[in-house]
Amino acid sequence: MEDGMNKRKFNTPEGEKQVFFKTGEFTEEEENEILDGFSKDSFKDLERKKEIMKTVCKKPMSKESQFTNGVNPLCQNDGDWMASDEQSSEMEVNDFLYALIRMIKPKTVVETGSYLGEGTIAIARGLEANGFGRLFSCDVIGDRVEFVNKQLAERNLFLETAQVIQCKGIDLIKQIGSTIDFAFIDSSPEGKVRGEEISALIPYLRPLKMFALHDTAPQHAQIRAMSQKVDLPSVYFNTPRGLTLYMKK
Ligand SMILES: C[S@@+](CC[C@H](N)C(=O)[O-])C[C@H]1O[C@@H](n2cnc3c(N)ncnc32)[C@H](O)[C@@H]1O
Repeated sequence: MEDGMNKRKFNTPEGEKQVFFKTGEFTEEEENEILDGFSKDSFKDLERKKEIMKTVCKKPMSKESQFTNGVNPLCQNDGDWMASDEQSSEMEVNDFLYALIRMIKPKTVVETGSYLGEGTIAIARGLEANGFGRLFSCDVIGDRVEFVNKQLAERNLFLETAQVIQCKGIDLIKQIGSTIDFAFIDSSPEGKVRGEEISALIPYLRPLKMFALHDTAPQHAQIRAMSQKVDLPSVYFNTPRGLTLYMKK
């Protein structure tokens, strides 16, 4: 365990989970209140959750079945995956992004839609382990941008390895342009918005460069339909929310 951390366990209907608090940050009574909130999953309110996450170092992961609820006919065993909420990428997707970054050694990476930064941090950690490369991520919501940049700073990843900019994904792609080696497309739930990002990205990509598109499972009908029209070699990963990896010919 990291220095200055205090591990607390708590029970949920899905079993025991743990959270790490900074030592001395909260009184025991406050820690109990927070754990109670997590165990009842009463943090639907993003502002409240963000407030807690600023000081709590790790948040509990839940079974993905809590979020996809068996709606993906291709992937009925959705309880085998984990996620911290319905918008954050699944833990396994983040692990995959980390491994992919380690494998393909990109110099410049773009992410559209940072949200609370779980994918951002996984990619940044991969770049850090590689010893080179930079991630430019974005979100349209200012306090998400601020929150993730703080998370990066706390891990010594801010600026040199990764940063989040407040802008639309398509504008970030156009700004970074032909230096992009890998992109993680995970912004708006609207297929049109992600489709425009991909249309802008493809001409910039050099041969053998890749991008991953999240939420390509059947329940995300717009994104899935758009994903199937992209004319590049691809592989679909049959996860609860679906992930498709494309490679420029
Ligand atoms: C599914 S979440 C991203 C999850 C994140 N990649 C992760 O790994 O946990 C989508 C995010 O995209 C943001 N967003 C929506 N439209 C956008 C756009 N046009 N450009 C960039 N971000 C956008 C939303 O504010 C939201 O925070």
